Amino acid sequence: MSGAFAGTEMCVFDAYGTLFDFNSAVARHRTAIGPKADALADLWRAKQIQYTWLRNGMGAYAPFWQVTGEALDHCLAAQGITDAGARDKLMGAYLALDPFPEVPAMLDRLQRAGLRLAILSNGNPGMLDPMVAASGLADRFEAVLSVDPVGVFKPDARVYRLVEQRCGVKPDKVCFLSSNCWDAHGAAHFGFRTVWINRAGAPDDGLPGALAGELRDLSQLPSLLGVA
Ligand code: LAC
Repeated sequence: MSGAFAGTEMCVFDAYGTLFDFNSAVARHRTAIGPKADALADLWRAKQIQYTWLRNGMGAYAPFWQVTGEALDHCLAAQGITDAGARDKLMGAYLALDPFPEVPAMLDRLQRAGLRLAILSNGNPGMLDPMVAASGLADRFEAVLSVDPVGVFKPDARVYRLVEQRCGVKPDKVCFLSSNCWDAHGAAHFGFRTVWINRAGAPDDGLPGALAGELRDLSQLPSLLGVA
């Protein structure tokens, strides 16, 4: 390993939007949902994350599964989608989201290079574990860490601290990867070397925490880290 990432011991990935495509839930049921499917997908994700920040502000943690369902209820109502089965179909699909196409080979390359791999997510274990199992990627990760035991969502520092607490790796030996710009800044501000996976080609949010890099997807991560 070389350059800015020399000495990295562990790569820690955000789950939703980074390794796993949350849009695949709506995509799978596009026909049943109809022409508002894309608007629903965008609003659902925005509300889901907004609700986590609001709950952090209120000191009112609830598991991400519940928050995801509450966000979906709002969005179905806002879009006027009344199909009685839509909620169950979409929530069910959330338990088996597709990994992004480049993810399995990228994880294999990092693993072959001797890097330790983990997930750190807002998801509670009841939703993360089935999704990781369904993807067939469970054996790539030594830990699937959830915010649930600390009862607060990202970007609270107690979440990022879980990596050292559970895996014994100091923050400056961690390379953190997130497609969520706010999560990337939160992690960088905490002390991880952080790469923003800017899948949407969006402008930077300009939050505290200096990013160590930016990639369009995860396929270039091994090269960025200097891994063969
Ligand atoms: C997660 C969300 C933020 O997996 O994508 O933590």
